[in-house]
Amino acid sequence: MNPDRPAILGGAPLRPDGPPGWPPRDSAVDAALRALIETGDWGRYHGPHVEALREALSAMHAGANVHLCAGGTAAVELALIGAGVEAGDEVILSGYDFRANAANVLALGATPVAVDVRPDTWQIAPAAVLAAFTSKTKAVLVSHLHGGVVEMPTVRAACDRAGVALIEDACQYPGAAVRGRPAGTWGDVGTLSFGGSKLLSAGRGGAVLTAPTPAGERIAARIRRYVGRGNDLSPLSEMQAAVLLPQALALAERTAVRGGNAATLRSIDGLKPLAPPPAREASSGTVPAFYKAGFQYDPAAFDGLSRERFCAAMRAEGVAFDPGFAALSTLFSAKRVRFEGDLPHASEAGRRCVVLHHPALLTGGEDLAAISVAIERVRAWAGEIAAAVPVSSTSQSLEL
Ligand SMILES: Cc1ncc(COP(=O)(O)O)c(C=O)c1O
Repeated sequence: MNPDRPAILGGAPLRPDGPPGWPPRDSAVDAALRALIETGDWGRYHGPHVEALREALSAMHAGANVHLCAGGTAAVELALIGAGVEAGDEVILSGYDFRANAANVLALGATPVAVDVRPDTWQIAPAAVLAAFTSKTKAVLVSHLHGGVVEMPTVRAACDRAGVALIEDACQYPGAAVRGRPAGTWGDVGTLSFGGSKLLSAGRGGAVLTAPTPAGERIAARIRRYVGRGNDLSPLSEMQAAVLLPQALALAERTAVRGGNAATLRSIDGLKPLAPPPAREASSGTVPAFYKAGFQYDPAAFDGLSRERFCAAMRAEGVAFDPGFAALSTLFSAKRVRFEGDLPHASEAGRRCVVLHHPALLTGGEDLAAISVAIERVRAWAGEIAAAVPVSSTSQSLEL
């Protein structure tokens, strides 16, 4: 058998055990879990862990007030509520975003206003945000996606001029810095996720960050009033907080490892990274986080191989590539979401984005080396893969 034959065509996979899993085995998390059993804290409503996590996250986020909650989706809804979004209001967001962000706006009876992304980074385009303000705009919701970074100073200035709240979704970006400030602190309110695939993981969980200012305190107070019903509507448990704390303390070191490894994947023909070049990052005080490393996939560099077949072939090799998000225009009708024009670049992102899941960026070594080898193997056999692989075997994995 030809040793280079791709696994999707019957060859031997480069990583036969599949991509590294998540969460990884972590001795500090093991110790936290053992301590939960010994103390009985795992089963208590209240204890020291939620408070300790709040303090650690606050220290990592410029003294922000931290409200812990049940998930990143819940955190975004709470952020919208905290920003005062109500029925009839408009919230500007990217036409290429996590679908729950638009769904959260709709759940409050408000209208998502979807704008285009920048063609080079596929992050929300500040100029498009500016053009979409109306008298009904209550908030702008921006997400840093797939290692890419939103131009926060420009968006911040636009929101300040318009007197509109800025919500910074850092669910994919914990531990990142944007122009010298921790991601999640540029907004009037920021969000984090602790979902099962996320960089800080407790299976589920999230956080809302508000600035330690009178304006931030008003947002935090609105959130507290909303969730405080004698009991917390959407809490994070002691058990979750206990396993998150050691991960939060290790985050800076792991962010650096992932960033260094992601930097080795920057000059692959047909896969243009969404993250800014490392030299530019360093000089501007930007440190990206890689929950997924996103790329602009160019089928022309792979003999016309579709994105879906490319991802299926990479997964067969044991390398965790998936298609990115679908554009919001393919998920929501124009009756529910106001689309500011055709949003050609957001549509393009929905069709061409591929994302590499983050665990290999932390394990490095052979998991990292396999990525480039697998890409070149798939490129060399692209014509055969296109001819042999049915479209039905290329569906997207369900992981968030
Ligand atoms: C940008 C973004 N926002 C919000 C969320 C929601 O987080 P959760 O899965 O914790 O609800 C996600 C999850 O993938 C996300 O990627």
